[in-house]
Parts: sequence; structure tokens; C-alpha cells
Amino acid sequence: MERTLILVKPDAFARGLTGEIIARFERKGLKIVAIKSMQLDRETAERHYAEHREKPFFGELVDFITSGPLVALVLSGERAIEAARQVIGATDPLAAAPGSIRGDFALSVQNNLVHGSDSPESAEREVAIFFPELVGSAVA
Ligand code: CMP
Repeated sequence: MERTLILVKPDAFARGLTGEIIARFERKGLKIVAIKSMQLDRETAERHYAEHREKPFFGELVDFITSGPLVALVLSGERAIEAARQVIGATDPLAAAPGSIRGDFALSVQNNLVHGSDSPESAEREVAIFFPELVGSAVA
């Protein structure tokens, strides 16, 4: 079993797509371990996106992810990281397969509705940022 950190980003939240997005992960067979609605401060957003700090779009990315409420979730399941990324689709929504969340609902590379951890190391680092109470707990 594996776990992954998902963000339903402020664009998805504002568009009323939160339920649709969570339902897709559930239908895939992933289990919700933790879930909360929150608004990120800049410091937390910069920690979450630390690997993109040198990218030209970093400032805009932090502006966007802190612009309104989002929903953070931890999902678990067999190969949960890869499974969630398949449900989400490619970073560029125009390269994302129809049937994926981004393929069906997004146009913008930045405002691409959902974030999913990209590796086991990222997943544990990101879970620790959003749900520190889960650090060290067994993945079930
Ligand atoms: P996410 O999966 O959350 O991980 C990094 C985020 O950076 C990505 O989704 C996009 O929202 C954003 N991003 C990636 N590439 C670009 C880009 N070229 N321009 C603007 N934002 C980007």
C-alpha cells in the first residue's frame, strides 16, 4: 500500500468541481485517509513547491495556489501515486488524455485543477506539510 498527497486547487474549488474530482479518485479505488479544506499561506505554498523555486513561473504559482480555498487529501491504495496521476492526467491539460480530470476540465498549464505527488519521497514530504499528524503512521 502507498499513499499520496492530493490538492484540489483553488480554480477547481471555485468552479465547484471538488465533488466531481474526489468522486473520480474514489471510483478508481483509492481510499480517503484524510481530508480538509484550507487556504495556504505563502510560506506553506513555497515549502510545498520548493522544487520549483528557480522556475520562472514560481511567483505566479504561489500567487495562484494561495488565491483561495483548496482541499487537501491523503489517498491510499495499491500504487496510489501512479494511479492518482493517471486519474489527474498530464500537467499540460491539452496533452492530458480525455477521461482524465485535466483532459476533461482544464485548459491552463498553471490553473490545472489538481496536484498529485510525483514520487514516494515527494508524497511523504508533502503529507508531512499538510497532515503532520500522519507522519510515522502506518499506510493502510
Ligand atoms: P502541479 O502538479 O501542482 O506541480 C507544479 C505546478 O506548477 C503544476 O502543477 C502547474 O500548476 C505549475 N506549472 C507547471 N509548469 C508550468 C508552466 N510552464 N507555467 C506555469 N505553471 C506551471
